[in-house]
Amino acid sequence: MNTLYYGDCLTIMREKMQPESVDLVYLDPPFNSKRDYNSIYKDHTGRPLPDQVEAYTDTWFLDNERMRAIKALPALLREHGVDGHSADFLAHFISGLTQVQPDMAAYLGYMTERLLWIKWTMKPTASIYLHCDPTASHYLKIVMDVVFGRKNFMNEVIWHYGKWTNAARHFQKNHDVLLAYAFRFGKHCFNKLHKQEESYHYEKGWHTNTIAGGISQLIVYDKVKATKKIESGIYDKIVYREGKTKAALPDVWDIPILNPMAKERLDYATQKPLALLNPIIRASSNEGDVVFDPFCGCATTIEAAEKLKRRWIGCDITIHAIRRVARRRLTERLHLQEGKDYRIDGVPKNWEGAQALWRQDPYQFQKWCVELVEGFVNVKKTADDGIDGRVYFDMPGEKVFQSMALEVKGGRTVGPSDVGYLNSVLQYENIQMAGLITLHAPGAQQARNFQRKMALAGDVAIGDRLYPRMQMLTVAEILAGAKFDMPSPAGRSGTGYERDLFTPAPGA
Ligand SMILES: C[S@@+](CC[C@H](N)C(=O)[O-])C[C@H]1O[C@@H](n2cnc3c(N)ncnc32)[C@H](O)[C@@H]1O
Repeated sequence: MNTLYYGDCLTIMREKMQPESVDLVYLDPPFNSKRDYNSIYKDHTGRPLPDQVEAYTDTWFLDNERMRAIKALPALLREHGVDGHSADFLAHFISGLTQVQPDMAAYLGYMTERLLWIKWTMKPTASIYLHCDPTASHYLKIVMDVVFGRKNFMNEVIWHYGKWTNAARHFQKNHDVLLAYAFRFGKHCFNKLHKQEESYHYEKGWHTNTIAGGISQLIVYDKVKATKKIESGIYDKIVYREGKTKAALPDVWDIPILNPMAKERLDYATQKPLALLNPIIRASSNEGDVVFDPFCGCATTIEAAEKLKRRWIGCDITIHAIRRVARRRLTERLHLQEGKDYRIDGVPKNWEGAQALWRQDPYQFQKWCVELVEGFVNVKKTADDGIDGRVYFDMPGEKVFQSMALEVKGGRTVGPSDVGYLNSVLQYENIQMAGLITLHAPGAQQARNFQRKMALAGDVAIGDRLYPRMQMLTVAEILAGAKFDMPSPAGRSGTGYERDLFTPAPGA
């Protein structure tokens, strides 16, 4: 069954996937770009919320764990069938890099491990497209040559897009790189695509190849309906018409990046356009084949695969990507039903699942808890480092959102210090309420103590009601439907919440 996995793709492949089960892989992993990517949130009124969800962090450090993984590379490469000389070459290359570019070495070690396992999932007729950019594409090509074999190299596809960047001391950086390899060149599936003749119909008549404003860049669609602003400022409905030429599709693709108003936009910071996935899937797979995206983000590959009648597997390490963004794409845009058309694996559905998530990744557990109560995760790196999140709400007479601070406790039962901590948050920060979420329910005596201490924090008057300033819920209670006693959370409740939440912020 089509599956969205939550977790590190390395673990998922090793523990949950089958060898030789995949026909096509597209991966768009972090690029070693040293940026944190955030999703942009707005509330139902359009006001941006002060916090944004950390989608994921694209920064690499050569820590002990990565160093150990690099040392283990020669053995791992051999285990995966790479010949001795090539394995030694790559291992020396990466360990040499640890001296001059430690971050890059950490990144390449991480990617090598995953690429070996990706290869393990691929059928002998399969192909792989590794999406990267010039930050690391030259190094990744060396890794790909070793893992997949130089003779299996298919193409270096250049995705060319228009984008204004600060380019005072160099040329504009306007392209990404797709490194395409076959598992076994010659045996791989490849459906020849033709360069398309561009022709657009819009309400004022037929136009061919002449529309300004970048529309002629839509060269690889079957059929696209879009609303585009043309130079004059008039909005027109444009329908792409397919027309084939004899020429094969070249390896430079002009496809616009998603503009902030694009219909397909979900506000996942690194979302790729469907138009990029379309030719990859059409060329390198057939109907019914399995397409695998190990770093699927907001599931662009999944949508493209589904529309082209392929089966699919997606995987992402960010719970927000799977639980909210990708799932929304599947239900709202593709009208797929969880359980019937696809399944989600790894996102807790009960207390045992929550406990397993805590053990596996405390930070993701915190994110999951915060989202369960309609809160927003604090952008931060480690578990147990300050407030874990906030639930925003409107307070009559206040222009800005007020909030409930959230503290999540997973591995151990709560102690008096947690209540004390929340008390100091209430006193010293501009926060109206504080909520504690615990995985483990406190014993009866302890619970009574907490209730007493929490009651000391008093009540807050919001509108015509009083609410307890400090509250506690267990994960089991929340899963059973309990909610904090507070005004309706902003951005996450009421009709149309999902839609409003994901509309782009101005300038996003
Ligand atoms: C560049 S984004 C992919 C964007 C995607 N192509 C789309 O259109 O939405 C990279 C994704 O990889 C995920 N990621 C990072 N490390 C991962 C790992 N070890 N396993 C699975 N996913 C991972 C991140 O959470 C992020 O969503």
